[in-house]
Amino acid sequence: MRNPNRYHLLVFSYCVLLFTTVIHLVLSADYVPADKILLNCGANGELSDDDGRQWTSDVGSKFALAGADSIVSEAATQKPSVPTVPYMTGRVFRSEFTYSFPVASGRKFVRLYFYPASYASLNASKGVFSVVFGPYTLLKNFSAYETANNLNFDFITKEYSVNVDSGALNITFTPASGTPDSYAFINGIEIVSHPDIYSSNGNALIVSTSTAFEISNDTVLENVYRLNVGGQAISPSKDTGLFRQWGGDNPYIFGASVGVPVATDPNITISYPTGMPDYVAPVDVYKTARSMGPTPEVNVGYNLSWYFDCDAGFSYLVRLHFCEVGPEISKINQRVFEIFINNQTAETEADVIAWTNKKDVPYYKDYVVFFPSGPPHRDLWLKLHPNTASKPQYYDAILNGVEIFKINASDGNLAGSLPAPAPVQPIIDPNRGISSGKSSKSNKIGIIGGGVGGGVAAVILIGLLVCFVTRKNKKRKDPNSSDGPSGWLPLSLYGNSHSSGSTAKTATTGSYASTLPSNLCRHFSFAEIKSATKNFDESLILGVGGFGKVYKGEIDGGTTKVAIKRGNPLSDQGVNEFQTEIELLSKLRHRHLVSLIGYCEDNNEMILVYDYMANGTLREHLYKTQNQPLTWKQRLEICIGAARGLHYLHTGAKHTIIHRDVKTTNILLDEKWVAKVADFGLSKTGPALDHTHVSTVVKGSFGYLDPEYFRRQQLTDKSDVYSFGVVLFEILCSRPALNPTLPKEQVSLAEWAQHCHKKGILDQIIDPNLKGKISPECFKKVAETAVKCVADQGIDRPSMGDVLWNLEFALQLQESAEDSGGKGAMVLDDGVYDEVPLKGKASNGDYEGDVTDSRSTGMSMSIGGRSLASEDSDGLTPSAVFSQIMNPKGR
Ligand SMILES: *[C@@H]1O[C@H](CO)[C@@H](O)[C@H](O)[C@H]1NC(C)=O
Ligand SMILES: *[C@@H]1O[C@H](CO)[C@@H](O)[C@H](O)[C@H]1NC(C)=O
Repeated sequence: MRNPNRYHLLVFSYCVLLFTTVIHLVLSADYVPADKILLNCGANGELSDDDGRQWTSDVGSKFALAGADSIVSEAATQKPSVPTVPYMTGRVFRSEFTYSFPVASGRKFVRLYFYPASYASLNASKGVFSVVFGPYTLLKNFSAYETANNLNFDFITKEYSVNVDSGALNITFTPASGTPDSYAFINGIEIVSHPDIYSSNGNALIVSTSTAFEISNDTVLENVYRLNVGGQAISPSKDTGLFRQWGGDNPYIFGASVGVPVATDPNITISYPTGMPDYVAPVDVYKTARSMGPTPEVNVGYNLSWYFDCDAGFSYLVRLHFCEVGPEISKINQRVFEIFINNQTAETEADVIAWTNKKDVPYYKDYVVFFPSGPPHRDLWLKLHPNTASKPQYYDAILNGVEIFKINASDGNLAGSLPAPAPVQPIIDPNRGISSGKSSKSNKIGIIGGGVGGGVAAVILIGLLVCFVTRKNKKRKDPNSSDGPSGWLPLSLYGNSHSSGSTAKTATTGSYASTLPSNLCRHFSFAEIKSATKNFDESLILGVGGFGKVYKGEIDGGTTKVAIKRGNPLSDQGVNEFQTEIELLSKLRHRHLVSLIGYCEDNNEMILVYDYMANGTLREHLYKTQNQPLTWKQRLEICIGAARGLHYLHTGAKHTIIHRDVKTTNILLDEKWVAKVADFGLSKTGPALDHTHVSTVVKGSFGYLDPEYFRRQQLTDKSDVYSFGVVLFEILCSRPALNPTLPKEQVSLAEWAQHCHKKGILDQIIDPNLKGKISPECFKKVAETAVKCVADQGIDRPSMGDVLWNLEFALQLQESAEDSGGKGAMVLDDGVYDEVPLKGKASNGDYEGDVTDSRSTGMSMSIGGRSLASEDSDGLTPSAVFSQIMNPKGR
């Protein structure tokens, strides 16, 4: 011992280290899985995902069985919402292929990740295959492409819980035999051991019976929904070591009565009872909840209801998570309610405190329901209603979380059919308006959403219809019958494309409505606003506009980021107008509008609190910026989102709402690059039926201003269309709408671009970053659309619905050009874009045809067999059709 002191020090620090590790293990509730494999198929080396998890590649890995016929490939395109890891690379199989994972025995989550893009120049629609685990069929004739299309998701995650007795977990992919040229593919596989938290031990009762359903080692469960009710999405790394993704419940709530999130103190301590492991669900699930609302008279009059699309022919395990976190509730018989699952009584007297004895203590209950075979899609209904018979103190109900699992059928099958909308065929009947019906495919006026692109066309058309439908049918009927509400398309089909953000079904993937319940426009006290903005700290200023300053802020104890807009203090009369405006704004909820969360009018302040948009304004990504230039597809997708938002303002609400200040700084981007239109606070409601304009003081931004509006001081929805046309030129050219430093003829972008378009040289003034990247057809379509938007007379401009249509079409043209490997063919910089054919056209004509056909198939049927695409080039815009559909005056 040369230096005994040093030795002691070493031993001592080693002990400390050991000790702290033990402490950490003891304190940490997280489960430590025996097996944790994250396999990024086709990847080049080790990569970490957005959640910070490390994925290893399957290239040369021991898990991929060698010798089989497979290739690795990168996805040809990346939609803005799609995370790079694990989705951007994949392994593609032309014949059966097995991954084999040596694992410890016990239950595992198997998560499969799919991004339906084109790989190795294969047609994305031919990726049809089965996935098998032992005697269990997880997926059969599965098309990630069509599934994503129908759900309007960008990527798909599937999660299964399987039991492994010993040895290896084998997963086999087989291309469908019925589809010529079919192939199988996979982007990522995750295997995570989990404790046996879903086995029933006789506790899962078949609803409305006293019979227990046995969930044994032989049972494979597929998680189809996992929701943090009344709360926010929880990412896999925030789960309890099991890496489950929890979504919000908003998209699944039925009707207008959505209840209210329970206002809980974010610092409460959730104490798991003995015998219930902490990893059953994370504290964040139990900390937040949804209840019915403060008014007993209202609560007794409705059911707080959710509905979930399910496959017929399967039993489902429904796990409900409860935790009484209401500040006013701590005793038995304060909040007692009934629970109905599929209109059968699951509980007559649910009283969370009676179950747990204390508040802030979690509890869960399992139920099993069976859907006999029949129509392929069924809705699983979950309803809560106050139990008045037991005379509780509050007529209310509460729910904190839901998990729904599909249980394997007796033959080991778990594969269902393609999700809706396939079975739903709304009919446009000129005499009766739109109804849902089961028209046969030969029905001339039915819209068939079956084909590859047909699905897309139907989704878009239906999206537009839904707008109309929702206006006509403010409330969907609550059908207790079997074909129930799936007779109507889920609203989430609208406005949700390229969205989804998070993963698959289990995540909140956005919906027609935005995240905030419409009855919830919060009132903030001035003190709250001051604390949220650190007393209006100048360093938090996001921007300064006509209205005043905009601050970045945090509310709810730092859990929610918001943008806080502070206007100049109001006069007494101003307060009234302000309140009217708030009322109007809070009713406007749409995925592509920035949501108003609340307001503050204390001390005559005029403060608005909005969703915070992490990626700022569209302009920040176009020019005078350090940001990466956006790709052409990103730009198009952003404009499509914005067009949807504007279209909704024009047609979705009771009165036409004219934005009046459409520009690239009023198109904001959230963390997933979803475009949201902002600042419609300036808006005035437009003409109610017979007036065609609203006279008002000229407002808006130069460079975007409708010349007609300027001349006649008349405002129509076409003024917004003009401004939007300027936005389109802006994304093409990446320059400001007005640039006074340029030669006179170039100062106004709208004029200069029109001039160049007339001369056939528009392609010469586009953003150099886009040169060679835009397919000629797509460019032509967007340029034409933009030129039509900035027509001098409002009457010559298309409606926002037409614009949206044309942009969607342009995106399809771009995608099909990219899919057919036509990148090299996108020659734009030589000025002859009109003549340059798409490379894929000759060799792969049928695919190119698919795109046009799908559109025209969908549409032509509604206008009597003539192709819409050709109508359009003949100068007849789709507005002829849409004005029929969209315009209630027309009927
Ligand atoms: C709530 O749902 C149950 C089950 O479907 C139904 O019997 C009951 O009438 C509903 N109550 C209300 C108020 O809608
Ligand atoms: C699930 O599949 C296994 C294996 O095929 C079978 O033994 C079991 O009965 C199935 N479970 C149900 C609920 O049918």
